[in-house]
Amino acid sequence: MNNFAKDVLKGLTSDKKYLSSKYFYDDNGSRIFQEIMKMPEYYLTDAEFEILSLQSKQIFESLKFTTPFNIIELGAGDGFKTFKLLQYLVTNNIEFNYIPIDISEEAITILEQRLKEKLPSIKIEPKVGDYFEILKENKESNVPSLLLFLGGNIGNYTKEKAQELLSLFNTSMKSGDKLLIGFDIKKNPITIHNAYYDKHGITKRFNLNLLLRINRELGADFKIDDYDFYCHYDPISGDVKSYIVSLRKQSVHIKAINKLIEFDYNELIWTELSKKYSLDEISNLAVGTSFKLVSNFLDCKHLFTDSLWKK
Ligand code: AVJ
Repeated sequence: MNNFAKDVLKGLTSDKKYLSSKYFYDDNGSRIFQEIMKMPEYYLTDAEFEILSLQSKQIFESLKFTTPFNIIELGAGDGFKTFKLLQYLVTNNIEFNYIPIDISEEAITILEQRLKEKLPSIKIEPKVGDYFEILKENKESNVPSLLLFLGGNIGNYTKEKAQELLSLFNTSMKSGDKLLIGFDIKKNPITIHNAYYDKHGITKRFNLNLLLRINRELGADFKIDDYDFYCHYDPISGDVKSYIVSLRKQSVHIKAINKLIEFDYNELIWTELSKKYSLDEISNLAVGTSFKLVSNFLDCKHLFTDSLWKK
């Protein structure tokens, strides 16, 4: 049984059903996520794009790298957000090697093609697969590295899991390596609500694609019209939680795990956490995972920060 099948079995036979948002990003889901990023309500992408467009010079200068370096991007996606930073570096003849990593083969192929077209002199070494294999190699290299963990991906982790992940990053970094990490900042709850509970129904499609993926890859028979999407922001904790709702009492057969899963009327499957942070919480997280916070690069509306940490 592959990991996807194992995790689906575990999540759907649990007392409170859940599925991990990391499985959103098959090739189809990655495409729907591109649509989300184009919605005006989904401010995260534009805010981070602004940061990297207007502050690349400041970010580069804060790295204090004096020799050629690696940029290792974890979860690069189609890499559009990173383009402005890469463009700045290439245009200013700064020597670096770009190593984007993603689990979607399609996304990484598109990224490589686009970058080679727009920045023909870029040195790029794309990788498909798990972060940690590649991070192991970083520890052994003697080239300084900038790790990128952009787009607010850290929001998908609970506080404890985020601490665990960042400590792991820290362990795989060399002294002097930097981490640039994107956090969505706590703000007017209505702004956040509109970004996730979008009126176009794109985020709903993004969530329901997970059921279609289970149909496709694990031979299940989810009828997706019998499911809806709900999400909720708690401004105190900063948690956006997303759910799939069963609109009927129904059962689903999943061939690959040979299981019949029963759903009650209005039963939930928890699919995603998108956690928001205050600047204080960010600085506590940095210190708590053995980093030094170098500086926060915010967009002009203070919606989002790319936070630069040093090992
Ligand atoms: C890619 C994890 C940053 O949580 O904002 C977008 C994914 N989910 N809309 C996020 C997502 C619903 C996104 N991240």
